[in-house]
Amino acid sequence: AAPSPAATTSDPDGFLQCLSGSVPSGLIYTQGASNFTDVLASSVRNPRVFTGDTARPLCVVTATDASHVQAAVRCGRARGVRLRVRSGGHDYEGLSYRSLQRGEVFAVVDLTRLRAIVVSAGGGGAWPAAPTAWVESGATLGELYYTVAGNNSGLAFPAGICPTIGVGGHLSGGGIGMLMRRFGLAADNVLDAKLVTADGDLVDRAAMGEDLFWAIRGGGGGNFGIVVSWKVGLVRVPPTVTALNVMRTLDQGAIDVVNRWQEVGPTLPSDITMRVIIQGQQATFQTLYLGRCGDLVPTLGTFFPELGMTAADCLEMTWLQSVGFFHTWNPNAPVESLLNRGTSLSTFTKNKSDYVRRAIAKDDWKSIFPWFAMSGAGMIILEPHGGFIGTVPPSATPYPHRSGVLYNIQYIAFWPAGSDGSAATSWISNFYDFMGQFVTNNPREAYVNYRDLDIGENTVVNDVSTLDGGKVWGERYFAGNFRRLAAVKGAVDPTDFFRNEQSIPPLLQGN
Ligand code: FDA
Repeated sequence: AAPSPAATTSDPDGFLQCLSGSVPSGLIYTQGASNFTDVLASSVRNPRVFTGDTARPLCVVTATDASHVQAAVRCGRARGVRLRVRSGGHDYEGLSYRSLQRGEVFAVVDLTRLRAIVVSAGGGGAWPAAPTAWVESGATLGELYYTVAGNNSGLAFPAGICPTIGVGGHLSGGGIGMLMRRFGLAADNVLDAKLVTADGDLVDRAAMGEDLFWAIRGGGGGNFGIVVSWKVGLVRVPPTVTALNVMRTLDQGAIDVVNRWQEVGPTLPSDITMRVIIQGQQATFQTLYLGRCGDLVPTLGTFFPELGMTAADCLEMTWLQSVGFFHTWNPNAPVESLLNRGTSLSTFTKNKSDYVRRAIAKDDWKSIFPWFAMSGAGMIILEPHGGFIGTVPPSATPYPHRSGVLYNIQYIAFWPAGSDGSAATSWISNFYDFMGQFVTNNPREAYVNYRDLDIGENTVVNDVSTLDGGKVWGERYFAGNFRRLAAVKGAVDPTDFFRNEQSIPPLLQGN
């Protein structure tokens, strides 16, 4: 049944009173509470979007049970209070805990305390069942990796690099990482989910139906409901893998090697993922091979002799250790550090993204590298596609950047607290403009998990986000899948209760 209409005027006191009927008071932090700011800031990653001027929520509800999430939705709809849902708080624009809508009354549903992980490693016998796990949205990727692989070095889950990312937002937006060329995005490996709908009902895959299940696997967080937990397929990796960081400066031929990598990175065997980080006048070729060094050296010698990689570059370790290595660049990082949820508000960032489908010419790389010597220069990360990820049809999930994509570019500008950041923000904006000539266009593709409000924000008319306003940014994240996402939104949340500056607008009859 279509959800009932939401209240149009907000009644904050009524909302809190309604909540108190279903959620223990110790889990609700209102603005007056002494620890309100600490709880709100607890998983904020980007102080750029958490300043003294940032609008504060009416309260933070730290749910410990799905019923608390259901109560927040029902009370929010009945009392005209919108919700922002937060799992790991890594949204680059802070949309999980702030609202840019002037005067909007909203509450944050924080899922940090909903983070149980239950692994079913599959049965024995001739046809062992595939290993799976149920993971709650508030778990971090580090917690998931540690729980899956800590006691079984042959199991893994393909998702992002930074261990403090929340499962909830990450799986909602796709999830790219070092295993995706072999096993796909995190979202490609979701088998079931439990979601609280705009009506406050808790539904699983069978009850939500295949359209909604399609939309929540990559259509972006904060759109269709609140995913409480996910059933994911785990993947098998060898007990020993090889990790390496090979660095090349300009003097060592970085331009030639990066230029050649564009052909090699997306076409290597899928058990090799080699991404490139360019910062300063240097490129680092960060590589994971699902096998031993002795096999990797001849393979790279054949496919990529220009890199000049040797056995001395190899570090053999478990897959779990490789996660710590890629995060810290320290091969001895203890795997327990993946459980650290600590955050720091010392670094401000701005991120943007592009996709490349036609290799950038060598002469153009010569004009790109000087950008990394400029004042305020940050870095870029090139994530190779191809392999398994390129074999998935672009409409199989909302993530459309599949066949034909060579790599994703992430642009990162950063600056420390105390600096005004103007050099870094000018750098990223000017560099992104400059790069427009080399990357995909019509639309200029972007990755929803690298959220960027510069590419457009919703227009709200009669309390509902418009389709035309959403198309501006939505077709860049989702290409031909945008309209289907809008149709799902129209079916499950026609009054646009789950709304933010870049939420999918409902496709309603007549628009
Ligand atoms: P957060 O809690 O901020 O949520 C993000 C969005 O999803 C918000 O709109 C939120 O409302 C919504 N949401 C959250 N939980 C939800 C739920 N349970 N149900 C429905 N909606 C929900 N990405 C990548 O693919 N590969 C990578 O390697 C990295 N690396 C990386 C490093 C660092 C340092 C950062 C800050 C970010 C990344 N990312 C990334 C991007 C990351 O995948 C993206 O920001 C995710 O959305 C973060 O998920 P969180 O739950 O942490 O964010």
